[in-house]
Amino acid sequence: MTATALPASHPLIDGRTADSALVAALRGGRPAHRPVWFMRQAGRSLPEYLEARAGTGMLESCLTPALASEITLQPVRRYGVDAAILFSDIVVPMRIAGVDVDIQPGVGPVFGRPVRTMADVEALPTLGAAGDRGFFDSGLDAIRAAVTITADELGHVPLIGFAGAPFTLAAYMVDGRPSRDHMGARELMHSSPEVWDALVAWTSRAAGLFLRAQVLAGASAVQLFDSWAGSLSEADYVAHCAAGSRTALMSVADLDVPRIHFAANAGHLLDAMGSAGATALGVDYRMPLDAAARSTGGRFPLQGNIDPAMLAAPADALTRHVKDVLARGGEAPGHVVNLGHGMPPHANPDVVKRIVDVVHERG
Ligand code: CP3
Repeated sequence: MTATALPASHPLIDGRTADSALVAALRGGRPAHRPVWFMRQAGRSLPEYLEARAGTGMLESCLTPALASEITLQPVRRYGVDAAILFSDIVVPMRIAGVDVDIQPGVGPVFGRPVRTMADVEALPTLGAAGDRGFFDSGLDAIRAAVTITADELGHVPLIGFAGAPFTLAAYMVDGRPSRDHMGARELMHSSPEVWDALVAWTSRAAGLFLRAQVLAGASAVQLFDSWAGSLSEADYVAHCAAGSRTALMSVADLDVPRIHFAANAGHLLDAMGSAGATALGVDYRMPLDAAARSTGGRFPLQGNIDPAMLAAPADALTRHVKDVLARGGEAPGHVVNLGHGMPPHANPDVVKRIVDVVHERG
């Protein structure tokens, strides 16, 4: 392995996670069992989450290290998954930067002041350089603290750090709130490409600094959630968004951690996403993993792609589906089992646990 800038006490360097099933599979290996974790496993359905969060706002919880750490650990304890994902949110770096954003229960991120003009972009806070102790870097200390205490608790189980991809973040900032088709953002990239590029430059930087802080503090892999990129044509993705995702992902390339790139409904973008700085690709439930492996020329370890709707199916049908995902994933050079999108908020924890057991027995 090449020398990296990770501290000697980092879990990937000191022997805790380098040989974990997750890191091995993401590096293209065949570990003794197929690793499994779930997008949106932290928070959502668990009763212990609802209890821990009671009375504390979503973003406030993310910025309270002991609480964020506790929620991160809950699914690992209950399900025995092969990775933890930090309890946080894609808009946490915006909040740390001082942008007026909140998460409304049942709605999602809502911005007080949508960003639509060059003046709006120029009014965004200056983020500073990596490691320069500006207010943004200092604000990231709460994230670093959550990561460090969590990684210490996790021992040999790797922690995944994450960020929202520049397009997905910009889509929220332009529309000011969740939208179905991201029309505001898609219009802006054509009506005012220079405003769009400036906004993407800002969100890329925020995402990159957020990822880097998590990795240096103890995360053993990262995932970029390009969640809404599937709404773009491949041409628009390549012309207006891929460079931003590449900037965010490459901001941790020198640290030699696996870099997963995920988007929903994006079978048509997989190749372009792979070329945007990823070392592994997350595939949603619409495209079978063997087809995804073929369409990307076998260049990437793949992650996915149990259909979240199958959690509601009878046990034997779900087991058959999981075995099918395992078989097809076996065609990729490295396979991490996951859902094809986030865990449904009403998921039954016993069903989730059963999936983990099936994967571990079969792997
Ligand atoms: O994966 C995990 O378990 C780690 C935590 C995590 C959260 N959000 C916690 C959260 C992660 C990785 C995210 C990512 C995220 N946030 C994405 C990308 C993932 C995807 O689904 O494609 C997006 C688009 C967001 C923005 C966001 N934040 C939405 C759409 C919502 C849901 C609004 C709702 O209540 O339905 C949130 C809020 C949010 N983020 C919650 C959690 C646990 C719910 C907060 C609550 O309990 O009220």
